[in-house]
Amino acid sequence: MKKNITSAKLIQKKAAGEKISALTAYDASFAGVFSEQGVDVLLVGDSLGMVLQGHDSTLPVTVDDISYHTRCVKAGNKGSLLIADLPFMSYPTPEQTWANAGKLMQAGANMVKLEGGKWLLESIAGLTERGIPVCAHLGLTPQSVNVFGGYKVQGREQSQADLMVEEALALEGAGAQLLVIECIPSSLARRISQALTIPVIGIGAGVDCDGQILVMHDLLGISTGYIPKFSKNYMTLTGDIHKATAAYVDEVANSVFPGPEHSFE
Ligand code: KIV
Repeated sequence: MKKNITSAKLIQKKAAGEKISALTAYDASFAGVFSEQGVDVLLVGDSLGMVLQGHDSTLPVTVDDISYHTRCVKAGNKGSLLIADLPFMSYPTPEQTWANAGKLMQAGANMVKLEGGKWLLESIAGLTERGIPVCAHLGLTPQSVNVFGGYKVQGREQSQADLMVEEALALEGAGAQLLVIECIPSSLARRISQALTIPVIGIGAGVDCDGQILVMHDLLGISTGYIPKFSKNYMTLTGDIHKATAAYVDEVANSVFPGPEHSFE
């Protein structure tokens, strides 16, 4: 069991070449199991709109939804860093970002996550100045699914890849303490992870990120419908939620997960 993971500890892990494990969590019971099994970061993701509420996107999720589940996760968490997602259209202006992020921090988050690049720089700098740590999110940002025209791998074009590296550096410069990159080619993820001092957590971004995150329903093999290529069902290995979580933490720590079959090139 790990105690009191902070963003400073995650930066130390990156500097020491130790991989970071992260999972989504939405309630106290799973938060307790995951944190006890050594998961560094718990994310109350707006993925709850899909895996808990049954919608076909994350767009219907509200700040009240995330606040409620953040309070639940906070109650069961045993020392993992707790990140809460700012949902769709809860951060269109810096002022609205700061107000809504404040609500998530009061619900128990240690950090907030928001999706996007350079347009967020003022909001991120202002959050940091106001005492709210930030996790940025680039690549396939699900709140923009209607702009992308589907859940598609991002950053395959050279110009798109160069822009993503530039935006990652700008987000770090504005004060972001963590970056999630989703569904991008492994070579681009490696480039971003090497360019940044802050830890870069991948999902569908290859093994060379500083850490990995999975939606808990994918880890436990209880997602319905479409199963993403980057997911892995650890219940088939162990048949026990505690052991499945421990196996995930171990495979991330030893760069066994994700394999090439979970990655894009
Ligand atoms: O909402 C979520 O669960 C996420 C992860 C997939 C990174 O953003």
